[in-house]
Amino acid sequence: MTDASTQLITRRHDGSGMHVLREALLSVYREVYADKLEIPFFTVDRFWERLEAYASRDGFLLVTGQLKDELVGYTLGYTLPPGARWWHGFRGDVDPQLLEEDGKRTFAVNELMVVPAQRRLGYARALHDASLAGRPEQRATLLVRPDNIPARTAYLKWGWDKFGDLQPFDDAPMYEALMRTIKK
Ligand SMILES: CC(C)(COP(=O)(O)OP(=O)(O)OC[C@H]1O[C@@H](n2cnc3c(N)ncnc32)[C@H](O)[C@@H]1OP(=O)(O)O)[C@@H](O)C(=O)NCCC(=O)NCCS
Repeated sequence: MTDASTQLITRRHDGSGMHVLREALLSVYREVYADKLEIPFFTVDRFWERLEAYASRDGFLLVTGQLKDELVGYTLGYTLPPGARWWHGFRGDVDPQLLEEDGKRTFAVNELMVVPAQRRLGYARALHDASLAGRPEQRATLLVRPDNIPARTAYLKWGWDKFGDLQPFDDAPMYEALMRTIKK
């Protein structure tokens, strides 16, 4: 699909498509997280391990954004399985039913990134919209650091709401848990 206003070409890929794009995906990651690559959690190897785990999940989707031949960003996620581990470490005063997964109701967004030279041009928005378009789930969720102003501002503008906090691992920082309706 081509967005006339941005000239960004978005493409959808499954897990095997992700593997074909490995070098290009990692190159974007290196640029976006250049100042964090020395931190164990953020090394390129660890990042790729996480991507491979996501890609093995049901409902996995990668959406890439290209300008001519250059990959400038991407987003990816998968459908939360029944009893998903995702909600471990959740803190918030919500109806427990909200955290129950049946394997069909929630699309979890794991990554959204755009290279620094191409920001504020609407590309993240285009990737986000392309990723959620046509999803079978009712709702989507993601985690964002409260000090990640660009991402947090964008999500709140795009219809996401904070509904709690979540620490995914004991040694991980606290994130805000956001939710957005995909369809009623
Ligand atoms: C977050 C990110 C994907 C946004 O990409 P982008 O292509 O610049 O986003 P868009 O151009 O679609 O911007 C959408 C909106 O986000 C908000 N936004 C983006 N950058 C912002 C900034 N630096 N400060 C405040 N708001 C910002 C604005 O509301 C913007 O709309 P506007 O330009 O019309 O004002 C990009 O900054 C990025 O890759 N960050 C590093 C990776 C990351 O943190 N990902 C999110 C993990 S949860």
